[in-house]
Amino acid sequence: MARELHDHWFKEAKREGYRSRAIYKLREIDQKRKLLSPGDVVLDCGCAPGSWMQYVGERIGDRGVAIGVDLLDVTPLPGGNMHLLTGDLREVDDALILEHAGLDPTRRFDVVLSDMAPNTTGHRDTDHHRSMGLCDLVLQRTGPLLRSGGHLVMKAFEGTNFQDLVRRVHLCFDEVRTMRPVASRSVSREMFVVAMHRRDDAEITLPPPPSGGPPPVPEDWSVGR
Ligand SMILES: C[S@@+](CC[C@H](N)C(=O)[O-])C[C@H]1O[C@@H](n2cnc3c(N)ncnc32)[C@H](O)[C@@H]1O
Repeated sequence: MARELHDHWFKEAKREGYRSRAIYKLREIDQKRKLLSPGDVVLDCGCAPGSWMQYVGERIGDRGVAIGVDLLDVTPLPGGNMHLLTGDLREVDDALILEHAGLDPTRRFDVVLSDMAPNTTGHRDTDHHRSMGLCDLVLQRTGPLLRSGGHLVMKAFEGTNFQDLVRRVHLCFDEVRTMRPVASRSVSREMFVVAMHRRDDAEITLPPPPSGGPPPVPEDWSVGR
């Protein structure tokens, strides 16, 4: 059954001209939560091969601006308002992201998205902790880059620290939901944290450094899809 579903979304993406089946996860979240609007300025973290960017482009229209960041090169997208930056999100700074998207340094994003995934090992705890590391990285960037009232969507692999992540996100947004889109594989532990309306009176908090937690991760820990 899982395989059939996989084939279904894969074929559907091919038929509709999207670069990946991942599009259907974002589309479902957007249709349920009303995330994206025409004219929005959007940051997509971990955008390769680019199906979320394709969908974002359709939703924001010519007046919007989107920038996608990924470790991997992405085939350019049509439209002068769709920008791509190759690099590790840990290393590209906020000013470079804004500059690369042709945005004023004082501009803030309306929506921040992250479908970033670690290179999975098959070991649940390890994959979970690596995924939490990526979510904290996104939160760190969201702090200075997301406007008050803006929205955040990020993928996480569920595990022991997931509820703490959701609790911390709750402190900074008016409304937070966790969603598992139908296009997610049944064997996957992925869950999307959908946070709406960033509050301007709350600091985004990161967890304390781990004491006796998981072992340090190797250099290529964040590569994967
Ligand atoms: C599941 S794929 C994203 C699929 C994409 N949403 C789409 O619709 O085509 C996850 C991506 O996250 C990227 N990624 C993982 N860690 C990253 C990091 N530290 N900086 C930038 N990109 C990262 C990977 O290279 C990979 O392409």
